[in-house]
Amino acid sequence: MSSLLHVVGARPNFMKVAPVLRAGAAVPGLRQYLVHTGQHYDAAMSDRFFADLGLPTPDVNLGVGSGTHAVQTARIMLEFEPVLDRLTPDWVVVYGDVNSTVACALVAAKKGIRVAHVEAGLRSRDRTMPEELNRLLTDQLADLCLTPSRDGNDNLRAEGIPDVRVKLVGNVMVDTLLTLRDTAHELGAPAAHGVAGAPYAFVTFHRPSNVDHPDVLGEILGALDDLAAQMPVVFPIHPRTRQRIADFGLGALARRVTLLDPLSYLETISLVEQATLVLTDSGGLQEETTVLGVPCLTARANTERPVTVTEGTNRLIPSKRDGINRAVAEVLTRRAEGAFHPGRPEGWDGRAGERVIAALVAD
Ligand code: UD1
Repeated sequence: MSSLLHVVGARPNFMKVAPVLRAGAAVPGLRQYLVHTGQHYDAAMSDRFFADLGLPTPDVNLGVGSGTHAVQTARIMLEFEPVLDRLTPDWVVVYGDVNSTVACALVAAKKGIRVAHVEAGLRSRDRTMPEELNRLLTDQLADLCLTPSRDGNDNLRAEGIPDVRVKLVGNVMVDTLLTLRDTAHELGAPAAHGVAGAPYAFVTFHRPSNVDHPDVLGEILGALDDLAAQMPVVFPIHPRTRQRIADFGLGALARRVTLLDPLSYLETISLVEQATLVLTDSGGLQEETTVLGVPCLTARANTERPVTVTEGTNRLIPSKRDGINRAVAEVLTRRAEGAFHPGRPEGWDGRAGERVIAALVAD
């Protein structure tokens, strides 16, 4: 084994590749390539993450940009194939569940190049989520499924993927969080946004199921308006969500909310760490709040990260104004009782990147 080609494309991939690249750099003679598909391309969605995470400039940027799922996935495949022909790595390492993940896994698998999937085995069992289709297909294609938690191994076994192709390595996102937590704390983002020293809520919403329907988005924004009457609500907003609020004419409901452009990784962690509660539909924030011991309310019917509920601070709630308000009130009561403590599921220990590399080098 002498070369790895890591593929990233969208914001949540960047935090996952960083500890793996770092662990790989410590292996003598190992050649590593970093390919960015360009699925995310705004400075706020991409470049600032590379800077915060100390990632190298990608060897190749495919520059695919936005499009429908079919267009985006197809463009990634078309652009990736010649790169693979040129670099001929021993392994293609894909991360998470975005369109870039499945597109590059498929190209590599068809060329007989081995595929490793980091963050394998997660399942929401909701096939209306584009990410769920990406997860199912990528794990079927992968020669090595590297899971973040034991439920991932169980899910893969139930789908007939043999145990020899599966390895529990733990959570690479947590490696990054533990590495940069102190730096994020020192950044003091709460003070910079005028919310230090008092209760505030940190909010993100970007899933199509929450933001692409005016009635659902209206319910969520209504709840945020109610919450803003109690404490500042800091909402760094994904470009997709900002666009939908404008399209649906819902701007008035967001008047009392502090809407920010997308934040960097360090600013995000700095704000999450001190928040009274987090209200979100993000996957990564469910994990980060668990490790930080910050209560998290996830407005989704399901989660592919069940350990954040059973061992962490996360709770699933409906995307309804009344349901959100009730859940917020319960969190504030429980918080006053000191009921939230940091959770560390198995393998969420800051060494997952090293275990990914160990698994690849051993094979
Ligand atoms: C993607 C992932 C999702 C992940 C999210 C994190 C898939 C299927 N979805 O969703 O799992 O949680 O990233 O952010 O891969 N846009 C910009 N600038 C950018 C990127 C996107 O303005 O740099 C806008 C475009 O209008 C684009 C829209 O956001 O059409 C959606 O982007 P896209 O990459 O298709 O999906 P995300 O919603 O970001």
